[in-house]
Amino acid sequence: MAVASLGAAVWPVAGVASEADDRAIADSLAAMLRAGRSVISANQSRINDPALGPKGLDGKTVLAAAVAGYTKATGTDPLASDPATRAGKLLRAEMAAIVAVMDAAQADIDTPGVGFKGFIPAVFGRLVSEEFGKRAGGLARMKVTAPLDRVRNRASRPDAFEAKVITENFLAPGWTRGAAFAATVSQNGTETFRVMAPEYYAASCLACHGTPKGSIDVTGYPREGFAEGDLGGVISISLVH
Ligand code: HEC
Repeated sequence: MAVASLGAAVWPVAGVASEADDRAIADSLAAMLRAGRSVISANQSRINDPALGPKGLDGKTVLAAAVAGYTKATGTDPLASDPATRAGKLLRAEMAAIVAVMDAAQADIDTPGVGFKGFIPAVFGRLVSEEFGKRAGGLARMKVTAPLDRVRNRASRPDAFEAKVITENFLAPGWTRGAAFAATVSQNGTETFRVMAPEYYAASCLACHGTPKGSIDVTGYPREGFAEGDLGGVISISLVH
């Protein structure tokens, strides 16, 4: 039998996730984060409008739009995921995190008379990642990080593994643009499956991350002087076994 020659290691063991399962989970978590950020991005001018009071961007509404975006991007309805599975549990934890972050942000983003409120996709992404971590029951972590020379928020600095993958892979000549990096590593005595997906600056990012280098952007940070297509950051997901 051909299958037998693959050896015992390939047989699924109850309770032990395969790397393929883990990769699918990480991809779905990243897709949901992107879908959520896109909702914030699409509503950015409304969020920043000092003449508008309530924007209607409560948790339920933003989640519904993120679910629609996710479904369009992946061809799968996240609400149909099985809550009894690890994949379904984690995706639902992320969806709950989106609701919690948006509900908590209502007072800020609905304040009339204030233009820029600091609520941008990167902040949404960081808050959702933090909230997700609290809800994932130690099974998973998610973070949006960046190379050390361009990371803005100290809380988002790359850990040693992330810094190494960024330098030796994503920033190395010859790395296939857009390709993710995945590896199972031993961390603090536990096996952890780590997936890092690179993201590149688009023209819309350069109002803040572009030129002139050192000049201050609307958020109060100095622009980094990057160009369209440069590595902007990395969605980093850890699945703990
Ligand atoms: C309005 C200005 C602005 C725009 C436009 C913007 N960013 Fe940022 N970006 C920020 C700020 C401010 C932070 C820090 C957010 C925080 O406090 O976590 C940030 C953080 C990030 C981070 C997380 C790591 C870090 O540095 O803390 C990444 C990655 C990132 N931006 C990439 C992008 C990309 C890619 C785009 C375009 C799709 C973009 N940004 C558009 C202002 C901006």
